[in-house]
Amino acid sequence: MNNFLEHVPVLLNEILENLEKFNITNGVIIDATFGLGGYSNAILENTNCDVYGFDRDPEVLKYANKLKERYDNRFTFFQKKFSEIDDVLSKQNYSKKKIKGMIFDLGVSNLQLTEKNRGFSFKFDGPLDMRMSKEGIKAYDIINGYSAEKLAKILYNFGDEIFSRRVASNIVKSREINAISSTQELANIIRKAIPGRKKKIDKATKSFQAIRMFINDELTELTKGLIASEKFLTYGGILCVVSFHSKEDRTVKNFLNVCQGKSKLFISKFLPIQENTKKSFEIITKKPIIPSPDEVKINYKSRSAKLRIAKRTKFNAFFNNEAAA
Ligand SMILES: C[S@@+](CC[C@H](N)C(=O)[O-])C[C@H]1O[C@@H](n2cnc3c(N)ncnc32)[C@H](O)[C@@H]1O
Repeated sequence: MNNFLEHVPVLLNEILENLEKFNITNGVIIDATFGLGGYSNAILENTNCDVYGFDRDPEVLKYANKLKERYDNRFTFFQKKFSEIDDVLSKQNYSKKKIKGMIFDLGVSNLQLTEKNRGFSFKFDGPLDMRMSKEGIKAYDIINGYSAEKLAKILYNFGDEIFSRRVASNIVKSREINAISSTQELANIIRKAIPGRKKKIDKATKSFQAIRMFINDELTELTKGLIASEKFLTYGGILCVVSFHSKEDRTVKNFLNVCQGKSKLFISKFLPIQENTKKSFEIITKKPIIPSPDEVKINYKSRSAKLRIAKRTKFNAFFNNEAAA
């Protein structure tokens, strides 16, 4: 299936190995980032588990339908965001079946990156869009509408861009002449604002990442997805998260710290955290699993991937105070 999908799933063998290691052979696995279906397909092929696939992008429906044709009632697809997983599982009683795994493979898919009209990549000249769900504000709206101060904050907070102020001020100067409407136009404006010679990593990369994360509210979405995993995973079920940059990985680490009773700092704004004394997750990967040199050779995009795995204990959740089923 993956040949025609042209998306090489990252760290897939490691995910499958861990499903086997923790005896996840039946029940339901949630593939929270269905994408082109690489993980879902492999799980359906290699285990007896059913899969609930989630993705906010309406464009993935055609791939979900193909899996549905092949696996029928073992596969169910929801065109929903991480923040809606709780609703879907609660209201429609989908959690009646045991949820034994929940997997997140973060970031954008090749389908999104290589379709120039989606505006995710500056390698192609496309409109400033970047919306995974194809709804809500577009990159165009913030690039042409936000103040320099607000733009700089986004670039710094989500992209660690140390030249955020310079970039923001160049964006504002350019748009005073003409609205900025394409990805390559924006990339050039960003590059011109950053001092120094051409680098191995394009100077526009951090800013593009930051704008994408902001437009799609990615860190809040991730947090809500993780909270749903604590609520719905059954005792012994595993959470697997593949992240691609430090902001995502830090969010996962912080969440798991809360679930160890170590910190309340992070997500307290999302839900009141309960006073638990027992860990709701056992951390399986003290250090994240990274792709082997062979995988990086075959799939260069995998080079920055980090996989963290944690196992749900039977103790109460920190975010809703219920024990695992
Ligand atoms: C890296 S791709 C996943 C690729 C997939 N594992 C595969 O093997 O084909 C990430 C996918 O997650 C989706 N996604 C990202 N954030 C999401 C969110 N908050 N809710 C639902 N889907 C999301 C994106 O639309 C994208 O299709």
